[in-house]
Amino acid sequence: MGFSPKQTIRSLYQNRDKSIPLTWLTCYDYSFATIIEKTEIDMILVGDSGGMVALGYGDTVPVTMNEMIQFASAVRRGAPNKFIVGDMPKGSYESSNEIAVENAMRFCKEGGCDAIKLEGGTVMAGRVKAIADSGIPVIGHLGLTPQSASALGGYRVIGRSQDESDKLTSDIEVLENSGAFAILLEAVPPIVAKNITSRSKSLIFGIGAGPWVNGQLLILHDMLGLYPNFRPKFAKCYVPQIIDNFRSELSNVGDLVSFGRNSRADGIHEISRLAIDSYVNEVRSGIFPDKDFSYKDE
Ligand code: KIV
Repeated sequence: MGFSPKQTIRSLYQNRDKSIPLTWLTCYDYSFATIIEKTEIDMILVGDSGGMVALGYGDTVPVTMNEMIQFASAVRRGAPNKFIVGDMPKGSYESSNEIAVENAMRFCKEGGCDAIKLEGGTVMAGRVKAIADSGIPVIGHLGLTPQSASALGGYRVIGRSQDESDKLTSDIEVLENSGAFAILLEAVPPIVAKNITSRSKSLIFGIGAGPWVNGQLLILHDMLGLYPNFRPKFAKCYVPQIIDNFRSELSNVGDLVSFGRNSRADGIHEISRLAIDSYVNEVRSGIFPDKDFSYKDE
């Protein structure tokens, strides 16, 4: 496994049509982006989760547009050949179409992003349409939307009741008709995500939405075991299962000091690369997410 050519919306749809599950991973800085660049990850999300895992905020609410641009431009410098999605932070798109387009444009011009993601359903239809009409590809985000967790009644699975699952279905239709090319479902029962995916025109990604979607998203710091404060049920840490491979790579090396100086493949960079490869393999072969990393339907 190694470097792969940059994805486009067209090639992402082609993978979906060939039933090849897509892989998406968050990133917030240059060094980790250089690792992801060497893998077959299809897309990077410069998520507002960076506010928590990289800046130490308690949730995603305080993150500013300027902080997101710093993250995005660093990620672009490290991963010139990846399809990068900028995550619109709270307060950067809700108040008007004009402000939403202006900030989405900053992600492209200053952050080097290929697309943006924003949270919310029917109520965000106007924003999605305005941004898509300005030529910027848009991904919707439904289910558990952390920026409005307090309005949702906390961090919880969304879609177990008939009302909630009907609302997800109608929101998806509205977002698709407004121009979203993909939708991310967060913390949604697998059976609900499966039904949605089978009927959707757009690409359906899941994070905590079970295996029957077109692609998976994970937070980098969860899959590497880097974030000390909390790990959601759906987040799998890939380090334990690759650590023996790392040891055996080093056992063939001979002079470790020169090897490290020359290749920099003697530490976290290489461990992370192996872990990300393992995530890609497991998603593509349908191993991840299994029931240990999915919510129950009821
Ligand atoms: O910011 C982020 O990483 C996200 C995921 C939690 C879906 O939006």
